Amino acid sequence: TARDATDAFGRRFRYLRLSVTEVCNFRCTYCLPNGYKKTGAMDFLSPIETERLARAFSELGLRKIRLTGGEPSVRKDLTEIIARVAAQSQVDKVAMTTNGWNLARHVDDWVSAGLTHLNVSIDALDRDAFARITGHDRLNDVLSGLDRAQALPLSAVKVNAVLLRDGLEDDFSAWTDFVRDRRISVRFIELMRTGDNAAFFQDQHVSGTVLRNWLLQHGWQPRERGIDDGPAIEFSHPDHAGRIGLIAPYAPGFCDGCNRLRITARGQLRLCLFGQGGHDLRSFLERDDQKEALQDIIVSALGGKSLSHDLHAANPGDIRNLAQTGG
Ligand code: GTP
Ligand code: 5AD
Ligand code: SF4
Repeated sequence: TARDATDAFGRRFRYLRLSVTEVCNFRCTYCLPNGYKKTGAMDFLSPIETERLARAFSELGLRKIRLTGGEPSVRKDLTEIIARVAAQSQVDKVAMTTNGWNLARHVDDWVSAGLTHLNVSIDALDRDAFARITGHDRLNDVLSGLDRAQALPLSAVKVNAVLLRDGLEDDFSAWTDFVRDRRISVRFIELMRTGDNAAFFQDQHVSGTVLRNWLLQHGWQPRERGIDDGPAIEFSHPDHAGRIGLIAPYAPGFCDGCNRLRITARGQLRLCLFGQGGHDLRSFLERDDQKEALQDIIVSALGGKSLSHDLHAANPGDIRNLAQTGG
């Protein structure tokens, strides 16, 4: 096509994070400690609206689409959504991030529908710690789902763990042991301050530098990032089949290579996880013949994308928790 998705700083967008719901069935301490509270109607994008978005964005050069939430698997029609995204010929990576709830039961269907990349959030490998963090004693179910996923023809299976002060060094070695023989990538995410978690953040935030130094001291080597990769820097080690990654949004230069755009579960384009408000795209999703107008809106909105998030500001934007915007 003539147009592609580029911003005023020359950053080219390849990766769309599309939230399918803001509902979640976990209550992670750093995200939704009191569980999901209904705000407004549950009028999330339909499978057809989602397909129209996927088509419009993929023609603008976004080749990787990740379904996020909330927890995507609370949608009864999730398999249909995956299939409609996967049906777009220009989308070559269909990814999803899940908390692993009932993963073992659903993952075969998702892969049959076209899912190619799966990330599972597992904040602790200790059963009690997992239950304390997520509010659900389901570590073993999530781990069997992860095993099942690894047996399927997925291009990548990754794990996300939020970096928390409690249990820090024990976690590093538990996870490096876990990836000794498993070909997965376990990424630690530096805790981000949101509107809802200020006190928790104060108590539990640890700089990603701590993990980075630990990895370098223990013989792990950083790798180059690919063109449509997410923000993690991954490290590999000659004695380990898997990798350890670090997502460090407070590190200088984190936004320089930003290649991502986001859509909220109600169809707002968000140019950044933190900082800027949304552009409503939903009125352009009613019919197929609105596609060009939709693409015009997207391309012109990109001119307003800032160079960096405002996580360092005293008040981190209007983001209450990451379930609200798809993380
Ligand atoms: P891959 O494509 O497999 O590398 O996954 P990903 O890391 O892009 O996606 P995932 O959904 O697993 O997200 C991991 C963490 O990275 C989440 O906490 C996201 O909120 C965070 N993240 C992703 N992109 C950004 C970003 O642009 N800014 C910030 N601050 N955090 C981000
Ligand atoms: N800081 C860092 N990571 C977070 N996640 C949710 N909220 C936060 C936060 N405040 C993580 C989840 C999941 C990913 C999509 O985002 O644990 O792995
Ligand atoms: Fe749900 Fe993910 Fe938030 Fe946990 S971090 S409460 S799994 S949306």
